Amino acid sequence: MAKIKIIGPAILQGTISINGAKNAALPCMAASLLTDSPVILHNIPEVKDVETLSTLLRCNGADISFKEKETCQLHFKEIRSPEAPYELVKTMRASILILGPLLARNGYAKVSLPGGCAIGARPVEQHLKGLEKLGAEIILEHGYIIARAKHLMGSEFTFDKVTVTGTENIMMTACLARGETILNNCAREPEIENLAHLLIKMGAIIEGIGTDCLFIKGNTSLHGATHTIIPDRIETGTYAIAGIVSKGNITITNCNPEHLHILLQKLKQAGANISITQDTLLVSYQDELLPVDIETNPYPNFPTDLQAQFMALMTQANGTSLIKENIFENRFMHIGELRRMGADIQVNGSIAMVKGKTPLSDAHVMATDLRASACLVIAALVAKGETIIDRVYHLERGYTNLVSKLAALGASIEKIT
Ligand code: EPZ
Repeated sequence: MAKIKIIGPAILQGTISINGAKNAALPCMAASLLTDSPVILHNIPEVKDVETLSTLLRCNGADISFKEKETCQLHFKEIRSPEAPYELVKTMRASILILGPLLARNGYAKVSLPGGCAIGARPVEQHLKGLEKLGAEIILEHGYIIARAKHLMGSEFTFDKVTVTGTENIMMTACLARGETILNNCAREPEIENLAHLLIKMGAIIEGIGTDCLFIKGNTSLHGATHTIIPDRIETGTYAIAGIVSKGNITITNCNPEHLHILLQKLKQAGANISITQDTLLVSYQDELLPVDIETNPYPNFPTDLQAQFMALMTQANGTSLIKENIFENRFMHIGELRRMGADIQVNGSIAMVKGKTPLSDAHVMATDLRASACLVIAALVAKGETIIDRVYHLERGYTNLVSKLAALGASIEKIT
């Protein structure tokens, strides 16, 4: 089982480049199911979740080839298997994203229900309700979703909850439904916009992109396209926080600062020096940090995927900050490990009260999910001594070359087995 060893404290300095967004790449890969022509995606990140989805899509019948390092061509000449087995889905919940496109292309899909995960129960009833509104027959049996539709019909559907992959799943499906579809209470994440722009390149007609109401005019078929995945805003935010907490000075290139407006606002409130260009973010900080309250909510508000990282930062602020997690019911598992490193954090329901500034010390800690592991890396950069982080496979699901990127910025970090 691979681990990461970090010797702190470290001051991060230098330049790193951001990769494509995992959460944009996955739905765009799933969209290739909607056509029998090739779909070419640039700026695909080299992360485990992309590898997992590639394996699944190959089982369904895709010819997938990685041209240069970050360009992937997916070609579904035909559907060889309409199933997504439990063995694969249990390792990556985002496999649910193939349900709608597979049903729309094939008229039948059998996809394992994604179980819960460390951060919450994460049900998918909104995905299923949306598909039923488009005319699908949904049966749940033996842990699988079995979906059938002779032909899908456009309709109006309102999500009961704002759901990122739910919006993506139903938007993709509606592109091949007969007639017009209106989706209300949609999520507005940049990854959804990126997917919508791919679908339009494939011939789809979608209006309202970037808003919570989408209008989709169904087609009988879609054609191939070439598209570029947007930069990973969560990777960008993670490194920005690491640069500040280490009292460093880093330049982050190939990113889109516009996608991080709220985070940058909060980092400025904490005292950080932030400057941006269209695709570059410069962060630096040498003084004492100020405490800042945050609460997570759907885009464009503070992203839940940066909550754990921001909490690590607030352990070094002079004062008390309140962090409220509104999206997932169990996304505070990093707190136990932060406490073992010396943090002073009290939890009351969905609110964590972080008392800073607390000196952090090295410890042997365990990652529990993708973003909690990033939080522990940030804490280890500040902690005095040698921190060992277990279960780093979580990190490798969503961060490309994290160890080499941090080492290039001056961190004393290595992967050990
Ligand atoms: C996406 O997950 C992201 N994953 C998550 O990133 C991210 O944390 C999340 O959106 C929120 O921004 C991908 O895009 C692949 P949701 P998703 O459906 O779509 C509840 C990471 O670290 N809900 O927006 O699964 C759900 O339980 C990952 O990269 C229902 O109740 O999240 C949660 O409380 C982690 N019923 C809330 O809504 C449903 O049918 C938001 O979930 C769907 C969701």
